[in-house]
Amino acid sequence: MATYDLIIIGAGPGGYVCAIRAAQLGMKVALVEKRAAAGKPRLGGTCLNVGCIPSKALLDSSERFYEARKHLADHGIQVEPKLDLAQLMKRKVGVVDALVGGIAGLMRKHKIDVLTGSGQLLGAGKVKVVAADSTTNDHDARNVVLAMGSVPIELPFLLFDGERIVSSDHAISFPTVPKKLVVVGGGVIGLELGSVWARLGADVTVVEALPQICPFLDVDVAKALQKTLEKQGLKFVFEAKITGAVTKNDDVTLSATAKDGSTLSFTADRVLVAVGRKPCIDGANLEAAGVKLTERKRVATDTHWKTNLAGVYAIGDLIDGPMLAHKAEEEGVAVAETIAGQHGHVDLNLIPNVVYTEPEVASVGLTEAECTKQGLSVRVGKFSFAANGRARAAAATDGFVKIIADAKTDRLLGAAVVGQRAADLIASICAHMVYGGSAEDIARTCMAHPTHGEAVKEAALDVLGRVLHA
Ligand code: FAD
Ligand code: NAI
Repeated sequence: MATYDLIIIGAGPGGYVCAIRAAQLGMKVALVEKRAAAGKPRLGGTCLNVGCIPSKALLDSSERFYEARKHLADHGIQVEPKLDLAQLMKRKVGVVDALVGGIAGLMRKHKIDVLTGSGQLLGAGKVKVVAADSTTNDHDARNVVLAMGSVPIELPFLLFDGERIVSSDHAISFPTVPKKLVVVGGGVIGLELGSVWARLGADVTVVEALPQICPFLDVDVAKALQKTLEKQGLKFVFEAKITGAVTKNDDVTLSATAKDGSTLSFTADRVLVAVGRKPCIDGANLEAAGVKLTERKRVATDTHWKTNLAGVYAIGDLIDGPMLAHKAEEEGVAVAETIAGQHGHVDLNLIPNVVYTEPEVASVGLTEAECTKQGLSVRVGKFSFAANGRARAAAATDGFVKIIADAKTDRLLGAAVVGQRAADLIASICAHMVYGGSAEDIARTCMAHPTHGEAVKEAALDVLGRVLHA
């Protein structure tokens, strides 16, 4: 008889949330995690240890420093801030450690066995755990969920050295502010961590292979963000492909090819390579166990997270879809419910995506470009924060709300917000979309005055051709 109803490999937001939900549903659960410090597992995955949480702690601290240096005087507050990077990092570590400790507490509360070591799938229902001292233990389970997440992509001509050429894992812990930082990749990590170090005083250049930052955003949204980041001092080079790097003393010189074929060169004391992440499948014995992968080397699943092996499921960054913590969490809950015989469901079209720059950018559903590609006839409403009272009072007038609705039915198809509090505003739009809401539903919702939410209502009114304050 199997020892466990469920073994989960990987304790990120997908894995640990799945463990909690499965325990709530009465299953006997084990959670395998290889990340450890001082002999104890570090739960929470990429998200808590080196991703969402440390990057947001740095974004919050650096924003305060930037505000104090650049904007407090406008409010009649005179200060001369001095950066204490060691304290800033100490605070970040404290935030992370408190949350990691909290997850360990949740595992104890739900009587989930945490097995420290690297998990290997031996076949359906069979998992080997290899501890740091190489001792091994085999475990049986009625079901296995693979939740090993992802790792940074390394470019062959730009290998990570952990010091000068680094991934986000190291760029969240630089011991000093870089003088010059080149960021390869103008995606989410490049913009968030580029912003952090620019606010703290680094000269930051972002080199992006495509013609715009964040290719998953509509051009107008991406351009608005780019413009504001440029005002903050970030520089952008588009349509350039890095071809090589030479490290000399404390500097790295990158060579790149521009769109017109000419050669570009960038010298920096630190280079952050942020060109995407890939599923973490190394060392888990997946292919030997017979687990099918997709062409892009993600674990292949059906719509109920089932792999080709009986009783073996996969979720989160390991499988198709956006690599986001809340997507992994939703799948963790849904797969536990599916295993318990319930009807777990995740609508990938309604996973909000937020870039935590200043201003934030948040989006959900289809972009206008995707609607055009799909041949959908749409009406688009837009409202600028420059005409929003609360945004003006907060001196945060950059950006706008964009709402896309079906031209015939008025059903909401997608939305994007560039501006202060965009992450919170997109949540209110998501809530309408979950119920199949229309632009008119938002337009009929009373928003408190003065709030940023009024810009959402006005954008919806604009879809209907009756905007009030523009
Ligand atoms: P992970 O969080 O990657 O967890 C997988 C776990 O499995 C890890 O702990 C790993 O050690 C473990 N593991 C791997 N292989 C094995 C094995 N063989 N045996 C045992 N354990 C194993 N997303 C957001 O939604 N919002 C954000 O603000 C955000 N910010 C980010 C900032 C940065 C800098 C980065 C890098 C990522 C960010 N993300 C953010 C993405 C987010 O972190 C991931 O989408 C999310 O963590 C994926 O969850 P997961 O559970 O699938 O995998
Ligand atoms: P990304 O996919 O967001 O962006 C990578 C960028 O690099 C793209 O714009 C791409 O065109 C560019 N690129 C690729 N190859 C290149 C090359 N050779 N030279 C120059 N540019 C190149 O990936 P990123 O930023 O590494 O983030 C990885 C994942 O982590 C993302 O999928 C994201 O969802 C997640 N994440 C989410 C955050 C959030 O939700 N706020 C924050 C940080 C990461």
